[in-house]
Amino acid sequence: PVTKPTAEDLLIWYDRHRRDLPWRAKPGETANPYRVWISEIMLQQTTVTAVKPFYLRFLDRFPTVEALAQAQEDSVMQAWAGLGYYSRARNLHACAKAVVDRHGGHFPPTEAELLKLPGIGAYTAAAVAAIAFNEKAAAVDGNVERVMSRVFMIEDPLPKAKPLIRSLTEDIVPADRPGDFAQAVMDLGATICTPKRPACALCPWMIPCQARATGLQEAFPKKLKK
Ligand code: ADE
Repeated sequence: PVTKPTAEDLLIWYDRHRRDLPWRAKPGETANPYRVWISEIMLQQTTVTAVKPFYLRFLDRFPTVEALAQAQEDSVMQAWAGLGYYSRARNLHACAKAVVDRHGGHFPPTEAELLKLPGIGAYTAAAVAAIAFNEKAAAVDGNVERVMSRVFMIEDPLPKAKPLIRSLTEDIVPADRPGDFAQAVMDLGATICTPKRPACALCPWMIPCQARATGLQEAFPKKLKK
């Protein structure tokens, strides 16, 4: 008799505890695709705390996708300096140009079309589609992998478990609030379902969590030994 994790329980928690982050639309506002895209690229290998000041300065310098597309490569690199992984900045610039050249400066509103742009991979395409366009897409990053592998106690190690995690996530994403769901799982992974000493007592998915039920939270996700 295992209860299932529901989007509803997660979103009730999110509505109460959501972090106020500069790229997030306030409840009721629509998200700006350009800002969502910039934030998701920056957040891929860098923490929320480290990203914030860079994000604000970058948006100040390049407030629109057109401004970024028209910029000189070295001024983009300069605005990126400090964030590391500089191929991300070069891809960012190439993607801005592609959005202007191919789509008249409007991000295409579907996961499939976003995926065709330079520097946009599976995660970013799903995140932008869900957060900026309310498409029912499953954005799976490291946080989501940790949460899902614990809740469902997935015995397969990463990366083998990735397709299963993706399909379990797709099954839970709600049609009405896919973007909030994506960000709720990210917040849960960053603040509650942490790699070490997760705060299970505060978790909206404590009851359905199979790893928690057996006391094995920290043993998941299983990872392939290198
Ligand atoms: N990590 C990646 N994307 C994020 C987002 N939109 N909010 C918080 N953390 C994130």
